[in-house]
Amino acid sequence: MSLTEKTAVVTGAGSKRGIGRATAHTLAAAGWNVAVLDLDEASAKDAASEVEERNGVQAVGVGCDITDEASVQNALAVLDSALPPVGALVNNAGITSPVPFLEVTGEEWDRIFAVNVRGAFNVTRRLAPGMAQRGFGRIVFLSSVSAERGGGVFGGVAYSAAKAAELGFTRALARELGPAGVTVNAVAPGLIDTDITGGALEGERKTQLVAGIPVGRNGRVADVADLITYLCREESGYITGATYDVNGGSHIH
Ligand SMILES: NC(=O)c1ccc[n+]([C@@H]2O[C@H](COP(=O)([O-])OP(=O)(O)OC[C@H]3O[C@@H](n4cnc5c(N)ncnc54)[C@H](O)[C@@H]3O)[C@@H](O)[C@H]2O)c1
Repeated sequence: MSLTEKTAVVTGAGSKRGIGRATAHTLAAAGWNVAVLDLDEASAKDAASEVEERNGVQAVGVGCDITDEASVQNALAVLDSALPPVGALVNNAGITSPVPFLEVTGEEWDRIFAVNVRGAFNVTRRLAPGMAQRGFGRIVFLSSVSAERGGGVFGGVAYSAAKAAELGFTRALARELGPAGVTVNAVAPGLIDTDITGGALEGERKTQLVAGIPVGRNGRVADVADLITYLCREESGYITGATYDVNGGSHIH
């Protein structure tokens, strides 16, 4: 297999300061062609042209709501004709919510699960069969330290539960797809500097959080992107069903 003949799909890679966009660049620097699926079509296209320019690979950006099966189907149909077969999927698109459990509504709960869990299902369900058929695949889920320690950074119970669901998803799928040459792993970042909290995590609270991080700083998107790209290498084929912490030591277990 040559990476120049393979494509990595990264969901939610539109966000300019996000983990997904950084991952799209790191994967491209390692030779992957890249497909960006994002709710925000303009940012998906912007990410794709940035990736092409900087890394000299093929990249395509498509507007897609991963919570909607028809939207996922349409987006993947665009890729089918534009890029080489998909060898890696990074289930990165995600949303968070700080609402305390005693205030959370069923709608809010469903909204968080719709993107983080059902959205990842919608994309994975469509891409996994081709990977299994071709005998090669790398799937990486973006879970969170929140799943492991029970919230406590920004997200509330709904977010923590959804991110923990992604760990069960990862482990069971790893078992099922291992024989077909497809590895499935999760990364669990701690606090990473992005726009996911919409600026809600600043000032005193942020200073307190950083004080609890042994390496003495917030995570950077590159910290997470490098780890994901490592897990997508062909040489990482003996790593599956694992959860990799990338949290500066803020949660050691
Ligand atoms: N930033 C952190 O501290 C942190 C920590 C742990 C885990 N994570 C996880 O990492 C992932 C990326 O987080 P980030 O901080 O880069 O977020 P971000 O908000 O910067 O980017 C998320 C992207 O997902 C896209 N998106 C949202 N809903 C979508 C949908 N329905 N369909 C398609 N795209 C959609 C958004 O448009 C956005 O581009 C998320 O799954 C998040 O839960 C983040």
